[in-house]
Amino acid sequence: MIVGVPREIKPGEQRVALTPAGARALAEAGHRVVVERGAGGGSGIRDDDYAAVGAELAGVDDLWARAELVLKVKEPLEGEAPRLRAGQILFTYLHLAPAPGLTRALRASGAIAMAYETVQRADGSLPLLTPMSEVAGRLAVQEGAFYLGRARGGRGILLAGVPGVPRGNVVILGAGTAGQNAARAAVGLGADVAVLDVNPDRLRHVDDLFAGRVVTLMSNSYNVEQVVRRADLLVGAVLVAGARAPRLVPKELVAQMKEGAVIVDISVDQGGCVETIRPTTLLDPVYVVSGVVHYGVANMPALVPRTSTFALTNATLPYALELATRGAAAAARANPALARGANVWRGQVVHPAVAESLGERATPLEACLG
Ligand SMILES: NC(=O)c1ccc[n+]([C@@H]2O[C@H](COP(=O)([O-])OP(=O)(O)OC[C@H]3O[C@@H](n4cnc5c(N)ncnc54)[C@H](O)[C@@H]3O)[C@@H](O)[C@H]2O)c1
Repeated sequence: MIVGVPREIKPGEQRVALTPAGARALAEAGHRVVVERGAGGGSGIRDDDYAAVGAELAGVDDLWARAELVLKVKEPLEGEAPRLRAGQILFTYLHLAPAPGLTRALRASGAIAMAYETVQRADGSLPLLTPMSEVAGRLAVQEGAFYLGRARGGRGILLAGVPGVPRGNVVILGAGTAGQNAARAAVGLGADVAVLDVNPDRLRHVDDLFAGRVVTLMSNSYNVEQVVRRADLLVGAVLVAGARAPRLVPKELVAQMKEGAVIVDISVDQGGCVETIRPTTLLDPVYVVSGVVHYGVANMPALVPRTSTFALTNATLPYALELATRGAAAAARANPALARGANVWRGQVVHPAVAESLGERATPLEACLG
C-alpha cells in the first residue's frame, strides 16, 4: 500500500503521525511511504531522516492524490477534507461526536475514517489515548512546579524542599493513567504526594506501585476538602468515560486554598473537575482566581511535541501496519479493537456515538465489510 503522511496544519500542532522508525517498519513490510516535506519539523525530525529509511518526500497535492492510507494526528481541517476520496483510508484523531459537519464531509467523501480515540480493547482500555494521558500526567507536575515559582505567580515553593524545610504537597484527583503518571513525576521530584480515586482497585495499584511513598485516599467530598486545603499543587486527572468530568472542587473550596497554590486540571478537556477552571492555551496558559494559579491547557502534549510524537506513534504503528498490510476490511475483521476505531465507512456512519450526534442510527460495521 502507499502510505501518506501529511504535515499537520492545525494551528499549534507540531506532532507528526509517523517517525523514521515507523517509516522503516512499513517499508520492511513491503509498503511505500510518502511523507510531506517538512512534516517532521515541529518534532525535530528532518526530511533527510525519512529519506534515509527509504521514504519518499512529496508536496501536499501529490501526497494526498497518491496515498491509499493517510496517517495523520489531528482531524482533517477545511483545506484537507475535500482531498479525501472514496476508498482512501484515514487513520487519525477525529473526535467526531461534537463535529457533525466533519462527519458529513467524511461521509460524502466515501473514505474509510478510522479514529485513534475509539480504538478500544476488550477490557475497555483506549490504547491510542493512553500515551497522551501519560504525557499530560507527567507534564502536569513539571508545569505545576514551574508555576509554583514566585516569579510565575506561585507560592515560591520548591516541591522537593531541602533539609530543614518541608517538601511541597501535591494532591492528585484520579488514579488513572494521567493521575498515576502525575504521581510518578511528583514522587520523582521528592514531593509529598496524595492520590484520590473512587475506585479502590486503582488506589491499591498506586499503593503497590509506590511502596508507601504516596498516600492513597478514597475520593469523597470530605477527603477532597481536607487535602485540597493543604495542597501546594492540585492536579485534576479524573475521567468518567463518555461524560462530563465530575466537579469535585467547588469554588468555595478553591477560595480556601493557600495563596499562590497552583491547580493544573488535566481533565479540563472534559469540562474539568475544579469549578473555577476554564480552557486555556499554551500561549496564555494560566490565570488567577482567589489567589490560586489556574492552568487549564486542553492540549498539554503539544508543549512537548517531540516526546508526544514518539509516544503516539509507538502506540499507533502496530495498527497502521495492520491496516496497510491487510487492507481496512480484513484488518477490522481480524482485530476487534481496531474495528471499534471505524467511524465512517464508505459513506456510512458506523460508530454509534457519532451517528447519535447526527440524530441517526449507526450502520452496523459488518454490513459494510461484506
Ligand atoms: N489536558 C490535556 O492535554 C489532556 C491530555 C491527555 C488526557 N487528558 C484528559 O485527562 C483525563 C484523565 O485521563 P486518563 O487517561 O487518566 O483517564 P483514566 O480513565 O485512566 O483515569 C480516570 C480516573 O478518574 C477516576 N475517577 C472518576 N471519578 C472520580 C472521582 N469522583 N474522584 C476521583 N477519581 C475519579 C477513575 O476511577 C479513574 O481512575 C481525561 O479527561 C482525558 O481526556 C487531557
